[in-house]
Amino acid sequence: MSYNWNALAQHRAATESRPILSLFDGNGRAAEYSVRLGNLLFDYSKTNIDATARGLLLDLAQEAEIEARRDAMFAGAKINETEGRAVLHTALRNLDGALMVDGADIMPEIRTTLARMDAFAEDVRNGVMLGQGGPITDVVNIGIGGSDLGPAMAAIALSPYSDGPRLHFVSNVDGAQITETLAGLNPATTLVIVASKTFTTIETMTNAETARRWMAETVSDPAAQFCAVSTSAERTAAFGIPPERVFGFADWVGGRYSMWGPVGLALMLGIGPSNFRRFLAGGAAMDTHFREAPLNANMPVLLALVGLWHHQVCGHGSRAVLPYDQRLSRLPAYLQQLEMESNGKRVSMDGQDLTRVSGPVVWGEPGTNGQHAFYQLIHQGTAVVPCEFILGAKGHEPDLAHHQTLLVANCLAQSEALLRGRTLEEARAMMAAAGLQGAELDRQARHRVFPGNRPSTTLIYPQLTPEVLGQIIALYEHRVFVEGVILGINSFDQWGVELGKELANALKPVLEGHATTEGKDGSTTQLVEYVRGA
Ligand code: F6P
Repeated sequence: MSYNWNALAQHRAATESRPILSLFDGNGRAAEYSVRLGNLLFDYSKTNIDATARGLLLDLAQEAEIEARRDAMFAGAKINETEGRAVLHTALRNLDGALMVDGADIMPEIRTTLARMDAFAEDVRNGVMLGQGGPITDVVNIGIGGSDLGPAMAAIALSPYSDGPRLHFVSNVDGAQITETLAGLNPATTLVIVASKTFTTIETMTNAETARRWMAETVSDPAAQFCAVSTSAERTAAFGIPPERVFGFADWVGGRYSMWGPVGLALMLGIGPSNFRRFLAGGAAMDTHFREAPLNANMPVLLALVGLWHHQVCGHGSRAVLPYDQRLSRLPAYLQQLEMESNGKRVSMDGQDLTRVSGPVVWGEPGTNGQHAFYQLIHQGTAVVPCEFILGAKGHEPDLAHHQTLLVANCLAQSEALLRGRTLEEARAMMAAAGLQGAELDRQARHRVFPGNRPSTTLIYPQLTPEVLGQIIALYEHRVFVEGVILGINSFDQWGVELGKELANALKPVLEGHATTEGKDGSTTQLVEYVRGA
């Protein structure tokens, strides 16, 4: 273990019981423990990080050579070592100039594909590309994981900018989802996007076949209303989708980092090419900041260091992402894949067992709904859950400004409550004012104590625009990168999803009665028999 981890552990032990509130005593802490990029403000002052802790955390970042690793990523080095791939989703949003990978400039193809997406989106949106029953009214994106979560999250986030066909997303192999999605749609005016980096994912291919059969019942040429997003031109051709409606990308775009390119096609169809480019510009602005700002004023670096402080040093096993912006309702799900598929690893880059825990578990729901569900645990449960509040100062509903004021008040109140808590004395005074006395007063007061001193951060922006969404997503991507580098893991592979896929493929014939349960454990055998008998 490096000197810095030990020093951080010692510092934590020495300061654990110190009230975070005491750090605010007249020292300009809020400004000092915040970082801005344009109008985006990340405030991490409501944590127990002080100058010593921050210094040690920054030393960790230096020791891990974050800047050199970052520059290697942006330059196209093959930092995804277990798959032998570069990691260049950033090239999808930094569109100028040249970038060499394996001796060839990758930028012309990125620009050409984006221009093809633009033209296709305009044709669909303007009724130039017609369905077999008229202009396209609905788009169904069939994909899963990184081929679904990004555009699905962003379609909701940017709905005020949506003036194209209605967007629908089908991901689950559970037939319920595709049945309910297609039920209300007219096949003759629906465009289906099959989005799959590999074009082999069983859930996506099964849903795509089902959608094609549904389409074929009504239109004479179903393939004409399909397009594909994939790295495999061979497989999209085998599925029957002609090359002019295939939007390709390279293997150096990881699935969960792919919404900036062709995987974002559904989003582009909804909000239009110029708004999509605004989203890309937001991501590019965060990239520039990440590359140029010193570590101690670098938003992704500081977000990562706060994350490591809470998880690695303080030992808090989860983090809650709490958007006070209903349109970010799918952001927690998106971040679950981004963070947990990237950094949920058990060995370091060189294959050795990690000496530190990895993770943490990421979860959340939009405020204020969460307040009426799980915030009880956040305020009074025995486990501490660091909270990441995400707040838009202004909504998109000028007539409902009073709703927005209440929303903002609730967000600020929650982080204040977590910070301050309520002491036993205060609770006793409340109970006394309510007329209670003696043992009953004491008993009731104890239930009303809030320990406080619970850490939170707040990311605040003026309004959820395409640029701001781009900034937020790129911020979290780089946070994952920084945490991964400091932990010494490969954030860009996902071998942990493979075993379940293999076993599911092997179980299908067992469930269909074409193979036996021989070699299966007793529980799996019992469950198979239950299903077979149902
Ligand atoms: O199973 C995990 C995963 O490989 C994710 O990493 C990926 O985003 C998802 O499946 C979908 O993969 P594809 O885009 O190849 O269908």
